Amino acid sequence: MTHEEKMKLLIDEKYPLSAKYDPEWIYENKMGCQCLWLVESLSQIMTLKPGMRILDMGCGNALTSIFLAKEFGVTVFANDLWVSPTDNWKRICNEGVENLVFPIHGEAHNLPYADNFFDAVVCINSFQFYGTADNYLSDYMAHLIKPDGQFGLVVWGPDKEFTGKVPADIGEKWWPDFYYFHSLDWWKWHFEKTGLFSIEAGDDLAGDGVRVTRQWAKIMEKYDNTHNNEIMRWNRMVAKRNSYQADDFRN
Ligand SMILES: C[S@@+](CC[C@H](N)C(=O)[O-])C[C@H]1O[C@@H](n2cnc3c(N)ncnc32)[C@H](O)[C@@H]1O
Repeated sequence: MTHEEKMKLLIDEKYPLSAKYDPEWIYENKMGCQCLWLVESLSQIMTLKPGMRILDMGCGNALTSIFLAKEFGVTVFANDLWVSPTDNWKRICNEGVENLVFPIHGEAHNLPYADNFFDAVVCINSFQFYGTADNYLSDYMAHLIKPDGQFGLVVWGPDKEFTGKVPADIGEKWWPDFYYFHSLDWWKWHFEKTGLFSIEAGDDLAGDGVRVTRQWAKIMEKYDNTHNNEIMRWNRMVAKRNSYQADDFRN
């Protein structure tokens, strides 16, 4: 596939806000999928208003943070571990949102924020790396969100949990750590069982999660069966932070 063909595939009429951005910029800063499609889809099921303070957790190259600031006028703390905040700051300034987006270097278990600081957290293709432990939400994340605030999640995963090993017919490129990719139902229970969150919405990008997986595989020229099947898909979910005070559940 030529580069021009790839650039065309990065513009998708299903995601009109994302289609306004330069495909070369998206491709150059990619980290796992077309992250603007994912965050645009998530934004459709969240309430985002100018002036809200958002944590973009695991923002990578901060494209999603820039998008949220530009499209919704929200203030974003672009938090990442692997990408340097200085590099993200350059991208933020180049896009003219330096008054709205703040790049922060922070590890998920040692975040430098006050309790109840955020109106919402968004987390795009990142939570699987650190958020699957049963105590992660209660001990490290929930207290950062205001009561009634939102947690918006986009993750890749199977339609339902595997009962044993990954099925052989989709396991061609399955890496050992891929077991952190869970089903939407698994994530819903992961949040709900803590009592700290209520699930407000969740689906496979409104039925588009398999197609997006395949579209991205095409762009990346991945023709293996792990990325081309009807099982693995992108999911989105929004949970509301229940009205506990932080001290009610922290040690
Ligand atoms: C696949 S990238 C996705 C980046 C971006 N959200 C996107 O969709 O383009 C996952 C991101 O999670 C972040 N991450 C992984 N482990 C982390 C941790 N323990 N604490 C904070 N961030 C972490 C990495 O720094 C990385 O940028």
